[in-house]
Amino acid sequence: MANYRIAPSILSADFARLGEEVRNVVTAGADIIHFDVMDNHYVPNLTIGPLVCEAIRPHVQVPIDVHLMVKPVDRIVPDFAKAGANIITFHPEASDHVDRTLQLIRDNGCKAGLVFNPATPLHYLEHVMDKLDIILLMSVNPGFGGQSFIPHTLKKIASVRKLIDESGRDIMLEVDGGIKVDNIAEAARAGADTFVAGSAIFGKPDYKAVIDAMRSELVKV
Ligand code: DX5
Ligand code: ZN
Repeated sequence: MANYRIAPSILSADFARLGEEVRNVVTAGADIIHFDVMDNHYVPNLTIGPLVCEAIRPHVQVPIDVHLMVKPVDRIVPDFAKAGANIITFHPEASDHVDRTLQLIRDNGCKAGLVFNPATPLHYLEHVMDKLDIILLMSVNPGFGGQSFIPHTLKKIASVRKLIDESGRDIMLEVDGGIKVDNIAEAARAGADTFVAGSAIFGKPDYKAVIDAMRSELVKV
């Protein structure tokens, strides 16, 4: 089995008990904590910021993967790095200077990545492959948990897998939105190696049962 990672999105967790929630999901087998930052400007929803990242940091050892759905991007990057983020991704159309923002994230000691909405073209990748540690493909339009996986994302995953392989670089390929036990294998077959799942995990009473079921699906790929 390839090196697959499961990244529960705390967007669907119980925010009143967030420390306990992240501890429980890591005990259940999560590899990464996916942290969705929404600003009510780039996306029509408002969630959590660096203070909450800092608050959960002592509760888990696994990487915290901050998905910035904000505009502008740069000002908030150092704050998340200080708050303990390990990975920071942003949407290229939300930054006026994509190369500079990627460099800023790395200069702050974090892994850097770009996020593509379902309709965002991949041409942003052309000149920055050497500055990427991760590429995140949205399989829903960003802003809300609990939406359905958009099937044409599978083709996009395959295209990005090809680009990564051709580059010969070690770049993670993450997929985010509508990932469940019954479609995780398809996403893996298309070429994804890191799977964000919010409602599929935090929406169920037994996190370990869901993560185990996802891993059993991945074994078959
Ligand atoms: C959506 C977020 C996702 C979301 C995924 O804008 O980026 O991370 O939490 O939630 P599910 O898995 O419920 O689609
Ligand atoms: Zn996300």
